Amino acid sequence: DWTPGNVIAEQVAAIRAQVGDARVICALSGGVDSAVAAALVQKAVGDQLTCVHVDHGLMREGEVEQIERDFVAATGVNLVVRDEKKRFLDALAGVSDPETKRKIIGREFIRVFEDAQRDIIAEAGEHGEEVRFLVQGTLYPDVVESGGGEGAANIKSHHNVGGLPEDLKFELVEPLRTLFKDEVRAVGRELGVPEEIVSRQPFPGPGLGIRIIGEVTAERLDILRKADAIAREELTKAGLDGEIWQCPVVLLADVRSVGVQGDGRTYGHPVVLRPVSSEDAMTADWTRLPYEVLATISTRITNEVREINRVVLDVTSKPPATIEWE
Ligand code: XMP
Repeated sequence: DWTPGNVIAEQVAAIRAQVGDARVICALSGGVDSAVAAALVQKAVGDQLTCVHVDHGLMREGEVEQIERDFVAATGVNLVVRDEKKRFLDALAGVSDPETKRKIIGREFIRVFEDAQRDIIAEAGEHGEEVRFLVQGTLYPDVVESGGGEGAANIKSHHNVGGLPEDLKFELVEPLRTLFKDEVRAVGRELGVPEEIVSRQPFPGPGLGIRIIGEVTAERLDILRKADAIAREELTKAGLDGEIWQCPVVLLADVRSVGVQGDGRTYGHPVVLRPVSSEDAMTADWTRLPYEVLATISTRITNEVREINRVVLDVTSKPPATIEWE
């Protein structure tokens, strides 16, 4: 019988068997998946676990603070935040190709973890050599879409599966590998993970890096972060969070169009709103958002974000389009 309780019991036993007395590191992204994976591992091996949040600079507004405030407050988990913004920006400089971006972000991410591992080993002293496990919140659809499932095509290199380098120095602990998103949420609730985190909409590991079409720069990230914060705020205000699976905001950074503001010509960038409804992200339909909400989002973004002079709506289902643009 599938129940959250059974999954927890099974996974706790499996995690204990896999890691024994060793120390474990968890990649805490702030999303549902890594939070539930961390809570499971904490239940299994307690303070053998250290969570690491890599601040890659590709997060949305306020997210790092939310991890520190909500998750740590609720779970008491040991969290280390590493500020690696410059490292990621440097690695992504000049890169526009989606798969190359994904691979760079995945590679740097693991390298940062190897640094974190080294630091934790140094602190652990003589038991340090036992730090060799890395927890990841990989879900079943991630496994399938990265070509891990039988007969599946490699559609995108998912950050937490296909983007891993060959010289990986960790053994992976992936307690959510057989679960779909709604199942992960049920497990999270059963584990007492705060509702704010459990019901959070999905956000990709490579973050805003794959929502900027074109090269990723600090300036473009700032632009997208402002537009994204406005869209999220208005969707929440309109009470639509439960209805949409997620709503990526995508910056077409290499596209410009002519606009007019006051008596002046503008030559700015478009952003795309991509609201989708889905059960498991394998397929999706575009969400028919109320026109008034779309109008408010559009007006606010073009008024408040100087560089954006056009807001467009993505009305494509998955398939043929994917949810994210890259
Ligand atoms: P696509 O764009 O493939 O996205 O339709 C399906 C779901 O997966 C999320 N996504 C990711 N999640 N690492 C993740 O953890 C990734 O690299 C990644 N890429 C896409 C996406 O937001 C959607 O919910």
